[in-house]
Amino acid sequence: MSKLAINGGTPIRTKYFGPSITTGKEEVEAGTKVLESGLLSGFVGSPSDEFFGGKFVKQLEKDWSEKFNVKHSVSCNSATSALIMAMGAIEIGPGDEVIVSPYTMSATATAILFYNAIPIFADIEDDMFCLDPKSIEKRITPNTKAIITTDIHGQPSDMDAIMDIAKKYDLRVVVDAAQSPGAKYKDKYAGTVGDVGVYSLNRHKNIQTGEGGIAVTKDDELALRMQLIRNHAEALTGSGIERFTPKSLVNMLGFNFRMTEVEAAIGIEQLKKIDDLNAHRLELTEYLNEKLSKYEAIILPKVRPGCSHIYYMHIMKFDEDIAGISRERFIEAIRAEGITIWGGYMKPLYLEPLYQKKIAYKGGYPFKNNSAYDKVIDYSKGLCPVAERLYEKETIVNIYNYSPLTIEDMEDIVNGFEKVFSNISDLK
Ligand SMILES: Cc1ncc(COP(=O)(O)O)c(C=O)c1O
Repeated sequence: MSKLAINGGTPIRTKYFGPSITTGKEEVEAGTKVLESGLLSGFVGSPSDEFFGGKFVKQLEKDWSEKFNVKHSVSCNSATSALIMAMGAIEIGPGDEVIVSPYTMSATATAILFYNAIPIFADIEDDMFCLDPKSIEKRITPNTKAIITTDIHGQPSDMDAIMDIAKKYDLRVVVDAAQSPGAKYKDKYAGTVGDVGVYSLNRHKNIQTGEGGIAVTKDDELALRMQLIRNHAEALTGSGIERFTPKSLVNMLGFNFRMTEVEAAIGIEQLKKIDDLNAHRLELTEYLNEKLSKYEAIILPKVRPGCSHIYYMHIMKFDEDIAGISRERFIEAIRAEGITIWGGYMKPLYLEPLYQKKIAYKGGYPFKNNSAYDKVIDYSKGLCPVAERLYEKETIVNIYNYSPLTIEDMEDIVNGFEKVFSNISDLK
């Protein structure tokens, strides 16, 4: 094959892959209708039916509940907000520990800190990258209150094992399914096993509203608490109206996390397309998996038995020993061919300055100066060896499996890998 682009040859691809586009004329029409009505939000922050949002917000929540077979769906302006609502709803606070993955987006763990509780990082599975139940159990202490597991890259967590642990130690379970709407955990949807599940509708996700999030739960009290936190809880809890009265006032400080009617109208249309959009990603990913399976140095993503994966990202592992070159050198060569993969996905969160310096609020609170919590937390390197190894040496991230990309685009990726592997000796 021709000379590698990294050594001065012609790249396989010069065309930008372009952004993920999941919307079409249906979303334009739905959004336009709302704009024409002039009613861009239906929320008010006082006791009335409008406290729960406008016509489109309520419709999206109803449709979401039907699709995912859950009792309550609470929309909001991001999955970050939904995680905060979930943490508030389960009443965590100073002195509590919440077990969380280090291999996730930063907001999964900061949601814990917003309520002054302590994130405790457990390690992840070597092959599926979700929280490892064995590691979770090792991290449990008398302070542990909850587990947040992330269904990462579109893959559901090992929920049976996690729910068994939660039952044994009386813990709440929140599933960060931001990346996994539509994936199946056995016969249930990802995010619907556990106390609360959270989805993101930001523009990179399999379906989107630009920005947006949804929290789901089967528990009436948790749903009410999340609705209150979404919309100025403190202004409602003294209303004297039964339906706005949670069982406890703990964490009943509210925010404005409300979704607009335009986003909700778009979300309704996106939800109708979720199966097709996920199927498209699956088709592109399965094509890549089949073509790349011949390289021993590439370990393809695994799917949890009995479950389905929606491939928000296509994550591979790279074996440096088999390849005979470092992951970084390999990635550099592929990128030079115009295929912009990268290494590592997420630096284990505890290695970021927030945790290394242990300063969330002034004075180091809640890690330090915390009368409810006098333990010294270990966030040192080596804490989660699997997450660290995957980040430092093994994982390769490919995001190019979304709409409107086609099999032809995948062929460029495959040709890029083929070119680099057949000239690998030039990289040594
Ligand atoms: C796993 C995970 N959790 C939470 C979030 C936060 O989502 P949002 O951007 O909707 O706040 C993201 C976003 O990328 C995510 O990937």
